[in-house]
Amino acid sequence: MAAQKNTTPAGAPADSAEAPPLHVAIVMDGNGRWAKRRALPRTLGHRAGVEALKRIVEAAPDMNIRWLTVFGFSTENWSRPAAEVAELMALPKRYFETDIARLEREGVRVRVIGSDKGLSRDLLKICREAEQRTAKNDRFFLNVAFNYGGKADIVDAARKFAEAVAAGRARPDDLTEALFESQLATGDAPPPDLIVRPSGEQRLSNFMLWQAAYAEFVFQDVLWPDYTAAHLQAAIAEFQTRNRRYGAVVPDDALAAG
Ligand code: IPE
Ligand code: MG
Repeated sequence: MAAQKNTTPAGAPADSAEAPPLHVAIVMDGNGRWAKRRALPRTLGHRAGVEALKRIVEAAPDMNIRWLTVFGFSTENWSRPAAEVAELMALPKRYFETDIARLEREGVRVRVIGSDKGLSRDLLKICREAEQRTAKNDRFFLNVAFNYGGKADIVDAARKFAEAVAAGRARPDDLTEALFESQLATGDAPPPDLIVRPSGEQRLSNFMLWQAAYAEFVFQDVLWPDYTAAHLQAAIAEFQTRNRRYGAVVPDDALAAG
């Protein structure tokens, strides 16, 4: 197994204030509350959430973001009522049906990351088609995490390596952080610089556990269906005030400490 090209925090500058986040990940949350406030069924909240996703995917490339990973359905969301799960399962189709031609034209490469387990044949076909139609694009990378769980992502990567060892293609000593990371669902994408969660909740909910090691977190008090490019701008502005040190000290402090 060869490690794919990857950017690790170790290779990043100690202080990246002002630099825009290259990879932004968003936990799209608050659809249900948005609907409830309007006395609408939760399903309509999810549909409005897809419209917010369209707005953000359109706006992100102009903000110098190159990778966007969005959390659409978690491995834990199966425990929701069957009717709601059915609506959530229909969302990728709702999104790609209207938008895939534009994504293809505008140079967006789409990947749907997560487990195939439990997804219908139709849904998998729609996702694989979206990936194939955009496979040659490299202007902007959109990962849609669907039926995704961070723990499952790590276990799958561990299983792939264990299989390589069992088949004699790798030795236990070959395993490095970079090699392991390249086997995660986000593959050759750099880890997210910024993880955004709207709706007021402040937790990761099993999203990109490994990849989040040195991400900055921004939590925003807006429900996802109301999310606009201005909210993303605000999250980026907040990110740019942060002082990322990756466990080191900033040069000035190191000098002051002698
Ligand atoms: C996000 O909105 C959609 C998914 C998690 C699938 P929610 O459905 O979680 O909305 P709230 O949290 O109930 O408001
Ligand atoms: Mg929620």
